[in-house]
Amino acid sequence: MTTFTIGETDFLLDGEPFQVISGTLHYFRIHPEHWADRIRTAKAMGLNTIETYVAWNAHEPVRGEWDATGWNDLGRFLDLVAAEGLHAIVRPGPYICAEWHNGGLPVWLTSTPGIGLRRSEPQYLAAVTEYLERVYEIVAPRQIDRGGTVVLVQIENEYGAYGSDKDYLRELVRVTRDAGITVPLTTVDQPMPWMLENGSLPELHLTGSFGSRSAERLETLREHQPTGPLMCSEFWDGWFDWWGSIHHTTDPAASAHDLDVLLAAGASVNIYMVHGGTNFGTTNGANDKGRFDPIVTSYDYDAPIDEAGHPTAKFHAFRDVIAKYAPVPEVAPRARPDAPTFDVALSGEGDWMPASSGAVSDDPATFEELGYLGPLVRYDVDLPAFDGRAVLAFAEVRDLAWVHVDGVPVGRLSRTLHERALAVPEGTRLTVLVEDQGRVNYGHRLGEAKGLIGGATLDGAPLTGWTATPVDLASAAGTGAGTTGRSLLRGTFDLDAPADLFLDTAAWGKGFAFVNGFFLGRYWRSVPQRTLYVPAPVLRAGANEIVVLELEQAVEPVVRFVAQPSLGQLEE
Ligand code: GLA
Repeated sequence: MTTFTIGETDFLLDGEPFQVISGTLHYFRIHPEHWADRIRTAKAMGLNTIETYVAWNAHEPVRGEWDATGWNDLGRFLDLVAAEGLHAIVRPGPYICAEWHNGGLPVWLTSTPGIGLRRSEPQYLAAVTEYLERVYEIVAPRQIDRGGTVVLVQIENEYGAYGSDKDYLRELVRVTRDAGITVPLTTVDQPMPWMLENGSLPELHLTGSFGSRSAERLETLREHQPTGPLMCSEFWDGWFDWWGSIHHTTDPAASAHDLDVLLAAGASVNIYMVHGGTNFGTTNGANDKGRFDPIVTSYDYDAPIDEAGHPTAKFHAFRDVIAKYAPVPEVAPRARPDAPTFDVALSGEGDWMPASSGAVSDDPATFEELGYLGPLVRYDVDLPAFDGRAVLAFAEVRDLAWVHVDGVPVGRLSRTLHERALAVPEGTRLTVLVEDQGRVNYGHRLGEAKGLIGGATLDGAPLTGWTATPVDLASAAGTGAGTTGRSLLRGTFDLDAPADLFLDTAAWGKGFAFVNGFFLGRYWRSVPQRTLYVPAPVLRAGANEIVVLELEQAVEPVVRFVAQPSLGQLEE
């Protein structure tokens, strides 16, 4: 039996000191046909371990409908890691942050009345217990002491930044141990004294998350834990992007230097991310620390392996550093190949908005009240008679609302810009299309409801009698004739063989793109992201179809496939 334990100063693999040199890959952000390739490329950088979170809401979007197949086949992912001779670290949350929608928590959970998130509240704990037991059924038999690959399991995630309920942490540990997890358990926190104190328990191994000033951060960790291996469980080598901002990158040399400092100190490391992948569909999260900033579709993260799986300059800089401390496989640098370039004409099929239907309620129903997991709801209400213009005000708009009077667009309200009111002209019927742009994944806005929140007023008087009609994206095609600029665009193209493509969205406004029925994600004329990554496995030799659900106005009905990704303007 192989053992993996915590020694006085090091992790011990079968009793011998072992420096973990790990990198993060999120299986839920990578097409399953690419898992093996990404794991192999990460290994070529010199890693001996792969780390992944588990995204609860990917496995169980609907309560009780647990899925661990296809994109959710965590067991297969871990087996591929094992097949490469690598170790694995699993971080099942239940909260994972990760710029992933709702920080990984299912919407059915966070919208349960009276639920107490991330603390020892009975409803929450009961659901979390069931979830963890399901995950550990997959993980337990794959632990190193049972002949498998898993060497560490993390409890919660940066809990010290959120709460200090030690009973909650103790309960997670109990469930984990009861489910047969025998490897060492860790916690991760930003290395600030109060976070380290709140986020862990004496029986858990403390680790840190940081991307610079390694020596100083290791010192802080050591002050809080006098013995045992030092570990940076999230060495941030890049950063994520949000709409309306620049594309974030870090200098490969500076990042490699910080990695060098960590490894020279004998610390173990998990590089976050070694390969970021993509927020396909509407899986992106958002931050709101006073301003709502939804994450873009790409999760390239400026990681050493780019979104399409190719090693970057940072890959080689990291590999050179790792080679000083561990054997690394030979790899020759090569430039990212050009993707096929061609244009496809799109034909417009008119407005896809469904007719208003459903029950009438005083205030607009939230997405949660509708039990709807998609990104768009159409709201309608009759307007009272008034002369000229009146002020329409919402308590809160989550997150982007297109307002129409008698079918004519009259304005857009953005949560990011804290817009909640506008003047509307007289008319008989108000229609508001609302997009959930991504659920907050960090801090106390976790689990917030979406839609038109808290009612509406017209010139100060309550506006009541709303219908709320969820938009079924899959069947949005082919409805009515467009009058407002919203349209469904469709095109076809032939390929000799499937290949990764980069789809340039510059000719479009804002919306969602699908290839052969696969939901690529959101696009927006806003900065920074301009191209969407189309993974080869969703394409086929012969005819392929692209569908674009445009929410505003496409400038040109055309798709351009370009040679290289364009993730946006860098900071100057
Ligand atoms: C924290 C979280 C991660 C991720 C990073 C930023 O460290 O633990 O899940 O959100 O921040 O990318």
